[in-house]
Amino acid sequence: MAVKNIQSVCCIGAGYVGGPTMAVIADNCPNINITIVDLNKERIDLWNSDDVTKIPIFEPGLQKIIKKVRNRNLFFTTEIANSIKNADMVFISVNTPTKTKGIGAGRASDISWVEACTRQVARYATGETIVVEKSTIPVRTAEAVKTILKNNSKKNPSKEGCSFSVLSNPEFLAEGTAIKDLQNPDRILIGGDDELSIQALKNIYLNWVSEEKVITTNLWSSELSKLTANAFLAQRISSINSISALCEVTGADINEVKKAIGLDTRIGQKFLNAGPGFGGSCFKKDILNLTYLCQHFGLPEVSSYWEQVVSINDWQTYRIYKMVINKLFGNVTNKKIAILGFAFKADTNDTRESPAIFICKELLVEGAFLTIHDPKVNESQIDIDLGEVGQENRSNWSYSDDLLKTYDNCDAIIILTEWEEYKKINWDFVSNKMNSPSWVFDTRKIVSPEEVKNYDFNFWQVGLGNNI
Ligand code: NAD
Ligand code: UGA
Repeated sequence: MAVKNIQSVCCIGAGYVGGPTMAVIADNCPNINITIVDLNKERIDLWNSDDVTKIPIFEPGLQKIIKKVRNRNLFFTTEIANSIKNADMVFISVNTPTKTKGIGAGRASDISWVEACTRQVARYATGETIVVEKSTIPVRTAEAVKTILKNNSKKNPSKEGCSFSVLSNPEFLAEGTAIKDLQNPDRILIGGDDELSIQALKNIYLNWVSEEKVITTNLWSSELSKLTANAFLAQRISSINSISALCEVTGADINEVKKAIGLDTRIGQKFLNAGPGFGGSCFKKDILNLTYLCQHFGLPEVSSYWEQVVSINDWQTYRIYKMVINKLFGNVTNKKIAILGFAFKADTNDTRESPAIFICKELLVEGAFLTIHDPKVNESQIDIDLGEVGQENRSNWSYSDDLLKTYDNCDAIIILTEWEEYKKINWDFVSNKMNSPSWVFDTRKIVSPEEVKNYDFNFWQVGLGNNI
């Protein structure tokens, strides 16, 4: 048997992972035809919109690649059956959120979408098909995927000569830097037990990634490494955030502490920025999934160890919210507060699990008037995220698409996302627009305390002790 030369790929799931990942593969592999399929017609229509600025995901560099490869060797469609039928390799890139009901609710990952599309692959595939788990899934999911493929292919009309092999190939991109991460990954991880299939997938990446960066493991190590990587990354943020609280009450400065510890090469400087708590669709759900797996496999101590990472994170967001209320004399009723940033981090339009959602909802409940600005998140997304609280208090919040008009007569400004344009704010101008007394709360440490200390507003910054 020879290594299969992959000519046609199907990716199920046109989301934050499927879209950018396949765009980069298409760009680097012009001889491979890639079709991305999704159940969500609206999303697929947006990916196909003539105006490339309308594609559903904002990522620096993505629009340029889409312009180049769309309808050349990258196609977006809702036609799942045909796309699977024609594919040598199928990537499963669907969502795996935390279960909301049943066994493991609130912790375990819901793999029903993975299961649903695996059944479709079993049903429509022809010939030899390599199935690649791109979604983040609980360790040992590949076992279920294999069983489903084997049993369900009995219903496949071309079942004679139809065979499957399953690989795990988790994605490590971060939003906001997805294209850079995909073009120059730290590593590519492929887990599997079929050498020829592993080589076929490896050959795709070798078009632009050097060989020493492609590592192979067994299936379970690969699945578990993804959860572990996210748990370690999130743990660093909870660690630095916990110390930021101690800095604030002791006169230390978290940036100085960060530099001092980060210069130890064993610790390193990266991923040590204190903030309002990590957001995003994955850290929380992946750690909760890890804690569930630990419980399931009889390791309650390991489970509660990782649970603390999530608890500290929730606490960080809560303590910042509480501090804002305290500084404003314990009362925000009818006070006008400008919210700068709604996305969970800069350079993305994604708001999933953004700390801004919790903080804005609580402030609305307390009776504040909010003006919410974000360069890439639109009003309807904010409306969805604020949910019932937003609806009940609809006249108490407004969306601002003009940063300069966001500060008028406000009693406080809360910086929640580290967008580049917030780093360039003219604080002299802002100071003249605000009420007095007023506060600027910088939860991202992007304002220079030296620069603002003489203006007519009070200033608070995460991790900065009372020493200015
Ligand atoms: P997403 O919600 O943006 O996209 C998933 C898409 O899958 C949706 O558009 C949904 O309609 C589609 N879908 C679901 N079931 C389907 C089915 N049966 N057939 C066709 N389409 C279907 O999710 P995402 O952020 O792209 O994440 C996907 C996976 O990748 C998750 O497991 C996540 O943990 C993992 N991951 C995400 C990131 C990230 O930065 N967002 C990074 C690494 C890994
Ligand atoms: C994260 C990981 O970084 C990716 O490797 C992984 O593939 C991805 O999760 C996933 O599995 O979904 P992402 O959530 O997109 O990527 O973005 P991060 O840069 O990790 O930021 C996550 C959150 O942590 C953001 O709210 C960010 O503001 C916060 N953060 C990050 C900090 O508060 N401090 C830091 O130093 C870094």
